[in-house]
Amino acid sequence: MKIQELAAEIESTLLMEEQQIEQFRIRFLGSKNILKDLYAAIKDIPNEQKKAYGQSVNALKEHAERRFLEAKAALHKVQKLSNNEDLTKPAGSPKVGAHHPLSLIRKEILNIFKQIGFDVSEGPEIEDDWHNFSALNFPIEHPARDMQDTFFIQKGEEELALRTHTSSVQVRVMEQQQPPIRTISPGRVFRNEAISARAHCFFHQVEGLYIDKDVSFADLKQTLLFFAQTLFGTQTKIRLRPSYFPFTEPSAEVDISCTLCDFKGCNVCKQTGWLEIMGCGMVDPNVLEACGIDTDVYTGFAFGMGLERIAQLKYRVNDLRLYSENDIRFLSQFKSGMA
Ligand code: DAH
Repeated sequence: MKIQELAAEIESTLLMEEQQIEQFRIRFLGSKNILKDLYAAIKDIPNEQKKAYGQSVNALKEHAERRFLEAKAALHKVQKLSNNEDLTKPAGSPKVGAHHPLSLIRKEILNIFKQIGFDVSEGPEIEDDWHNFSALNFPIEHPARDMQDTFFIQKGEEELALRTHTSSVQVRVMEQQQPPIRTISPGRVFRNEAISARAHCFFHQVEGLYIDKDVSFADLKQTLLFFAQTLFGTQTKIRLRPSYFPFTEPSAEVDISCTLCDFKGCNVCKQTGWLEIMGCGMVDPNVLEACGIDTDVYTGFAFGMGLERIAQLKYRVNDLRLYSENDIRFLSQFKSGMA
């Protein structure tokens, strides 16, 4: 009888508040708990009923423990909710990501050229020999092909390559379109290089191409000056040094005045005051002809730059590997660049 009463009490006691729970604990689970009398009474129980009696007292104890733990957990939840989680509060701001620095710089470069009438064109990363080399005036067996350590892919009889530069997109555009052509081609390129702080087996380039009547070297220079000053500031100077590329004649390498030291000399410009940013030149007539453009009527210029290099100069990132390691501590530093 006593057992049933206690079972009913255990089941029905209100356990909402801390005090109620504590009283319950003292009564049923504390050091002088009421169940102890029941255990003590076992010696007066007839032998044949001892087992059943013991089991029901044990069940009573387990019941009390269960209710106690459940009540405690429920109270804890309510307290937590009222401390930290005021459901009437406005939601906190969501965590925002950051654009990748290379995406930021690509967008900035494309925007500059869009302002002066360039459109954007893209081509495949897996290229054939014609678009990556031959049409760009790299004859078969010409040593200039060694300038670019190429990854080759064999597809049946055909040998394909991971493009080594975005100059391949020039060819595709010229094959499909007659001048005037003003296009800018961003994309990923691949070279068989050992990975280090200064070289990677894949990186990104932006290629520019302008073909029309009477396009001259002066137009090229003016376009590049506009680009450099828009990206790096109006005080920026450019310098062109003679160079060699199979697809341009004449060819030049473009330097900008060091964005850090203003010709005083520093370790970024290696004490020269100048930083190399791209290659350029007048499109070689052989290239125009290979792409079906009339060299009696049209001339043009082209240029190509590495995005990692430009980003390095803009953001002072001196290890190329950071761009592809996906380290959140690096990437989250570019949050303010969100457009
Ligand atoms: N394709 C060259 C490279 O990957 C870069 C380049 C140089 C592109 C001169 C051009 C150019 O269009 O005129 O190193």
